[in-house]
Amino acid sequence: MAATLGEQFVLDQAKIPGATGALSTVLNRLSLAGRMIALEIMRAGFVGKLGLTGDVNVQDEEVRALDQISNDIFQRVFHNMKIVHAMASEEMEHIAYIDGGAEGKYLVMYDPLDGSGNVEVDGPMGTIFSIIRRRDESRPATVEDFLRPGNEQVAAGYILYGPATMFVYSVGEKVHGFTLDRAIGTFFLTHPDIRFPVDGAKASYAVNEANIKKWAPATCKMVETFRHGETKCGKRAARYSGALVFDFHRTLVQGGIYMYPGEEKKPAGKLRLLYEGNPLAFIAKAAGGAATNGDKDILDVQPTALHQRTPLFIGSRPDVDEAMRLIRGA
Ligand code: F6P
Ligand code: MN
Repeated sequence: MAATLGEQFVLDQAKIPGATGALSTVLNRLSLAGRMIALEIMRAGFVGKLGLTGDVNVQDEEVRALDQISNDIFQRVFHNMKIVHAMASEEMEHIAYIDGGAEGKYLVMYDPLDGSGNVEVDGPMGTIFSIIRRRDESRPATVEDFLRPGNEQVAAGYILYGPATMFVYSVGEKVHGFTLDRAIGTFFLTHPDIRFPVDGAKASYAVNEANIKKWAPATCKMVETFRHGETKCGKRAARYSGALVFDFHRTLVQGGIYMYPGEEKKPAGKLRLLYEGNPLAFIAKAAGGAATNGDKDILDVQPTALHQRTPLFIGSRPDVDEAMRLIRGA
């Protein structure tokens, strides 16, 4: 019978010299948050929680009730656990210290409900998380302590709320995917050692092409080349769900590329470096793929602000290389 998520954490931990089990506990708590959020999503329609709260978040985006609920769940599951010291969220302007977390040695960054625009249409959504080690335990962490390049992450992953709920994560070596058995509330290993297929017959390209008028000419040309199947990687189907987690997950399993380019008037694009770019780039690298902002590897970028945005080109390595070659050659 397949391993459970908890058992896999123990196996991962056994490989790290001096590990105390704290990271496994963080991951276990994240999986608990995922199960709780999945339940809220399933029930949202009939308990009147589908709509907007009327608030606008620090990103200038409308907040949905489920964004708020998911964010609160993430905070609550770490209360008094003494493992996570502070958290930063796409939905919170400032970092938040965890009650009872003064001694916690980890900092967690997360996007509580990615693709929440799909709430009203029963579409896929996800949660993305990134874990780094606290650098100085003798003082409370500051914003600067969160501004670490992605290659310093100790673990990262996402929880996908699709027809089935999945937990996909890596501690840097391999990427494993687990599927939730709702009846008993346990995640089982269904996708061991996921690697991007290089010549996947189902490979796709995902980008919001309605933004074409906002892109630089080189970006337009590159996307057009993908659309016409004239890339060195061959023909790719167009697929775009409006939920990064889902579009990324499909790309990871079937191959291809996801892109959210910068725009002429908004060169940094839309996605957030700390809550979206870094954790997914960490997964991509561990799965043999690549992620770039168009200039350098996402994991090498030194963040300068908590809510910093970044262009993102992520997926199978040949596809990402081809996109960059086309942009540079144009
Ligand atoms: O979190 C940002 C996000 O919702 C992603 O999940 C998604 O890929 C993207 O924005 C969709 O943006 P747009 O509607 O501009 O294509
Ligand atoms: Mn998001």
